[in-house]
Amino acid sequence: MLAIGCDHGGLELKNEVIKHLEERGVEYKDFGTFTPDSVDYPDYALKVCHSVTSGESERGILICGTGLGMSMAANKVKGIRAAVCHDTFSAEFTRRHNDANVLCMGGRVIGPGLACKVVDAYLDSEFEGGRHQRRIDKVMAIEDED
Ligand code: RB5
Repeated sequence: MLAIGCDHGGLELKNEVIKHLEERGVEYKDFGTFTPDSVDYPDYALKVCHSVTSGESERGILICGTGLGMSMAANKVKGIRAAVCHDTFSAEFTRRHNDANVLCMGGRVIGPGLACKVVDAYLDSEFEGGRHQRRIDKVMAIEDED
């Protein structure tokens, strides 16, 4: 399963991405927000990230105005590796090399056509392991520092 969430700045793009997920037949859970009313992005980042860290979802997608606030909040959650991607190369390689488990995008940055290609690159790319696992282990060890 894929967890997806947004704030008001990402609502329109989230709805486009969801249409695309449905066309692809991807199983997803939408954690909101569901209206254009102003909300706080960390609340939605937490819902999606907890779905990933609990094992309910394999990966997540978070969309705010820029993707930046969502990624900052998401990367505070233990076990989350969130990446802001607005191009397909980054989306592919953040899976292959960083094993990113959350993709962040900005609804005020990228259009729906490219965003759906970014989602495809993210979903269709697999982690390569090997030397990249060693580096990720070092990144994740930072979570345990004082
Ligand atoms: C909301 O106006 C905006 O700050 C938010 O969507 C996001 O871009 C934050 O990083």
